[in-house]
Amino acid sequence: MPGGISRDEAWTLLCEWTESDSLRRHMLAVEAAMRAYARQFGQDEEIWGITGLLHDLDYERFPSLEDGHPRIAMAELQRRGVSDEIIRAIGSHADEMGLSRDSTMERALYAVDELSGFVVACAYVRPEGLEGMTPKSVKKKMKTASFAAAVDRDQLRRGADELGVEFDAHVAFVIAALQPHAPVLRAREADPAGPADLPPAPDPAG
Ligand SMILES: [Fe+2]
Ligand SMILES: [Fe+2]
Repeated sequence: MPGGISRDEAWTLLCEWTESDSLRRHMLAVEAAMRAYARQFGQDEEIWGITGLLHDLDYERFPSLEDGHPRIAMAELQRRGVSDEIIRAIGSHADEMGLSRDSTMERALYAVDELSGFVVACAYVRPEGLEGMTPKSVKKKMKTASFAAAVDRDQLRRGADELGVEFDAHVAFVIAALQPHAPVLRAREADPAGPADLPPAPDPAG
């Protein structure tokens, strides 16, 4: 199978390694954004989606950026026969690894990772959730330093620059990619199923 792992196997593995509901939802959000960009760029949606789904596989168990995440995930996926394409992309999403981002998939992962978390955090403080959200409102939140303070604003812009997409268009694209998944992402304040740990903790590793 392309990539060396099926979506079902990836999801089972993710659930084994990650108990946090918010971290699981973060990975689902990144998967959704990656799938959308794969379609946009005419690339393999399964491989891009699985890369998004697994990019923070080891973050809960091995959060140290010095000797843990994402190295442990990379080793585990290699052991399981996952393709180098996916493993390298996972490595390159963490700045601490010092890996260049060479493929479009690597640049896309970096561009959507933190932004997905930020957009979901924005949705959570709007009664309408993702519905009707605009890049303008997201940029307004970016100027509020105390909002989702762990998210590096420069990195959000750098991701779009590296991918070669205009920032507003990129934000609009990610919002649109996440909208169909709003119930799963629980990106609404009014959702009675929303657990107490919302909004999802943005991934400091990027
Ligand atoms: Fe992440
Ligand atoms: Fe990460």
